[in-house]
Amino acid sequence: MLLEIANVLTADALAEIGRLLPAVVFDDGRATAGVQARPVKDNRQMRTGSPEAERLQAIVRRALDASAMFYSATLPRHISPALVNEYQTGMSYGAHVDNAIMAAGTPLRSDVSLTLFLSPPDSYDGGELEMRDALHGYHRVKLVAGSAFIYPSTTLHQVTAVTRGVRHAAVFWVQSLVRGAEQRKLLFELDLAIIGLRKREPDAPELATLTAIYHNLVRLWAET
Ligand code: NI
Repeated sequence: MLLEIANVLTADALAEIGRLLPAVVFDDGRATAGVQARPVKDNRQMRTGSPEAERLQAIVRRALDASAMFYSATLPRHISPALVNEYQTGMSYGAHVDNAIMAAGTPLRSDVSLTLFLSPPDSYDGGELEMRDALHGYHRVKLVAGSAFIYPSTTLHQVTAVTRGVRHAAVFWVQSLVRGAEQRKLLFELDLAIIGLRKREPDAPELATLTAIYHNLVRLWAET
């Protein structure tokens, strides 16, 4: 499932991130690339550990935690620390698949990848997130600052070259309680349908049954 989650960050959070970015240090992104990705990876990654970097990571993580849609779509078991990256003009990240196991923080299996866009799209050219696979076809994404895009970590993807300006984004990996992308999608759609029905017809007798089915499917499929 490919999904846009709009307005994860508030205007205030974006403004604070804008003040923090000039105060953090970015290192060559190749340092954390696997053998497969190293030749195609040309970006910079925020050095962690400084108060500014920790504040930035906390802001984006808190915003994710507040997103009901993020929780419903990914059913997180573990969430990686935010990796903030920078693409200066000329930089790109060629086609790759994200590592299966992410070792930063608690080691986790990457089921879902998330890109949270931090730069206004008119401040840079290029820098699209591009996905191509047999299941989802071809997608090219460039979202407003503060919006996020999630996709199965099994998807081959790339970040196209930035040809003007600088692109910042925060990326996360999620190990889901529900390993299979198809099951996650069914649960997400069922959850949305229940929410919609509850809004329109709060007294609908079917709500209890549908909610029970949702929880019982989670029970069937979740690994804790
Ligand atoms: Ni990637």
